[in-house]
Amino acid sequence: MTYHSTVQDVYRQAAESPASNLCCVPQTPRYLPGLVIPSIMHEMNYGCGTTIHLQDMAADQSVLYVGVGGGLEALQLAYFARTPGGVIAVDPVAEMREAARQNFETAAKLNDWFDPSFVDLRDGDALDLPVNDGEIDLAAQNCLFNIFTTTDAGSIGTQGDLEQALSEMHRALKSAGRLVMSDPITPRPIPEHLRNDEVLRAQCLSGCLTYEQYMQKIVEAGFGSVEVRSRRPYRMLDTHRYDIDADLLLETIEVCAYRTPVPTDGACVFTGRSVIYAGPDESFDDGKDHVMQRDLPLPVCDKTAGALESLGNPHLTVTNSTWHYAGGGCC
Ligand SMILES: C[S@@+](CC[C@H](N)C(=O)[O-])C[C@H]1O[C@@H](n2cnc3c(N)ncnc32)[C@H](O)[C@@H]1O
Repeated sequence: MTYHSTVQDVYRQAAESPASNLCCVPQTPRYLPGLVIPSIMHEMNYGCGTTIHLQDMAADQSVLYVGVGGGLEALQLAYFARTPGGVIAVDPVAEMREAARQNFETAAKLNDWFDPSFVDLRDGDALDLPVNDGEIDLAAQNCLFNIFTTTDAGSIGTQGDLEQALSEMHRALKSAGRLVMSDPITPRPIPEHLRNDEVLRAQCLSGCLTYEQYMQKIVEAGFGSVEVRSRRPYRMLDTHRYDIDADLLLETIEVCAYRTPVPTDGACVFTGRSVIYAGPDESFDDGKDHVMQRDLPLPVCDKTAGALESLGNPHLTVTNSTWHYAGGGCC
């Protein structure tokens, strides 16, 4: 039995008997005026954050959602698309697709503007997406990719499924298209015996990577710019319930990765850092296209933040990561 069949079993069961403590963290889904979310979608919220960010929404864009779950986020995306087939939602678990289909019927009764045809539910797999190359403007996945094995972590991790899933998203996206994701991360590598526990992995508890590994996988897949939009506590792997030496506080991270070429000096990763010039002149120019007007914080990627810090200029203050990047900036 590969871990894939365990994952499918876990989500077959989660489709048939909603498990409100699976994956999700207590939080109210993003409020959108005029959208009534059926209670069953709340119960089947198996995401660990959100992939719905207003700055990604645009008219007439093609949208892909991978790992539909109970359909909550596909419904939220359909709120913006409002057109037949406007959101392609993919899931390999027939019971989950059927649950989502029924939930969309319920949603249509509660929302005049919504028609279930707005979501094109497809049988498919994140590892082999049923979409054409370069077809998608906005792709999203919530709490699925952390389940996938990588080539370099854990002994069932000899399959590079995460690498394959990211490569598929990259293939599906148009140039400059966006991949929005929410996943758990861990402060230090999760011990191998837990990583190899297929059920814990399927439940989004033991497959996740460190922040550095997660970002590295995204960049290696060819995404040249990545924004960290949120980072907050997710779950505790504690010494009482798990065979582990010290407690591990997992976090949820929300990111948006852009299909832009990776610069030769490395990807631009925005974590909410800024630089402020407060010197004798009106502005400061680092000679690398970063011009700071006096007193006005300029959001910068971590690469630029590091370069500016290394100048040792006493009039420049480089702030720490807020982990809430909200746009604008240097690259
Ligand atoms: C943790 S749940 C997240 C559901 C949804 N994204 C949400 O936020 O509520 C994972 C989802 O991915 C689906 N899934 C499992 N393996 C998959 C795969 N290989 N490709 C695509 N989806 C998969 C499951 O059936 C389930 O719907």
